[in-house]
Amino acid sequence: MSSKSDDFDLRPVDCIEGMKTLGDESVDIVVTSPPYNLGTKYGAYKDNKTPQEYLDWSCAWTREVKRVLKPKGSFFLNLGACPSNPLIPHELVVTLKGERVGFVLQNTFHWIKSIAIQTKDGQLLSAGHYKPIHSNRYVNDCHEYVFHLTKQGDTPLDRLGLGVPYMHKSNIGRWAHTKGRDLRCRGNNWFIPYKTIVSRSKQRPHPATFPVELAANCIKIHGFRPDLVVLDPFVGIGHSALAAKECGVRHFIGFDIDAEYLGTARRLLASRDSRPEVTAALL
Ligand SMILES: C[S@@+](CC[C@H](N)C(=O)[O-])C[C@H]1O[C@@H](n2cnc3c(N)ncnc32)[C@H](O)[C@@H]1O
Repeated sequence: MSSKSDDFDLRPVDCIEGMKTLGDESVDIVVTSPPYNLGTKYGAYKDNKTPQEYLDWSCAWTREVKRVLKPKGSFFLNLGACPSNPLIPHELVVTLKGERVGFVLQNTFHWIKSIAIQTKDGQLLSAGHYKPIHSNRYVNDCHEYVFHLTKQGDTPLDRLGLGVPYMHKSNIGRWAHTKGRDLRCRGNNWFIPYKTIVSRSKQRPHPATFPVELAANCIKIHGFRPDLVVLDPFVGIGHSALAAKECGVRHFIGFDIDAEYLGTARRLLASRDSRPEVTAALL
């Protein structure tokens, strides 16, 4: 049932079954966004487990992630919440840190989807997209988490792989650690707005994607090498696969129980038009 395009292996299977076919310590990077258990309307998957069922299932699939991950590998777990249920990501990460799975939380990144900054001179910089909430008690939710989980908490990163130039160039000479390079660590706030689309069914036929560059950031901060093996157990319409391709990764494995989503992923991968989803993430 699997289909291969180069070394991009996308399979319409349950991710636990899929991961069972992979060897111990065979994957460098897992970047994924599982269902959040918030009632999202997917095609094949019903996003309505009880809280305990959701935690138990999450332990089951993340134990497989831990088994296939190399000792210095990185597991980037994108999770979001909703204002009336804000603790789901935290409960899940605390569970994954516990003895049932045993990951270490090495970094927490914040995917900022929309931002409004009042500058010192009174200008308002407002950019990005969000889903407006009509409420007198909750504010619009403009961010999600990317938890960076590792086996020992000591996975080396390529901080400047995602570096940004200094605003004030005098810093290049001021700090010895720059070694003369005009690049500093970007930090853990990643401003990545969704690409504006006109038709969801034609341009992004999936209810809960992450942007291609979110996954690309994860690959770059882990440190890119062409021989990396990247896995997404919940690949959806393939944005992590596109990111891997964009970064130059040659070995990618993706699973999804929804064959229709995988069909879109294959089309996007094969198409030259896959690139417009990638826009520059600045800040
Ligand atoms: C949040 S979406 C991932 C979207 C993806 N990051 C993208 O950008 O297209 C979660 C996906 O998990 C899939 N899914 C749900 N249960 C699964 C399972 N047991 N094994 C594999 N995929 C599953 C759903 O069909 C859905 O596409």
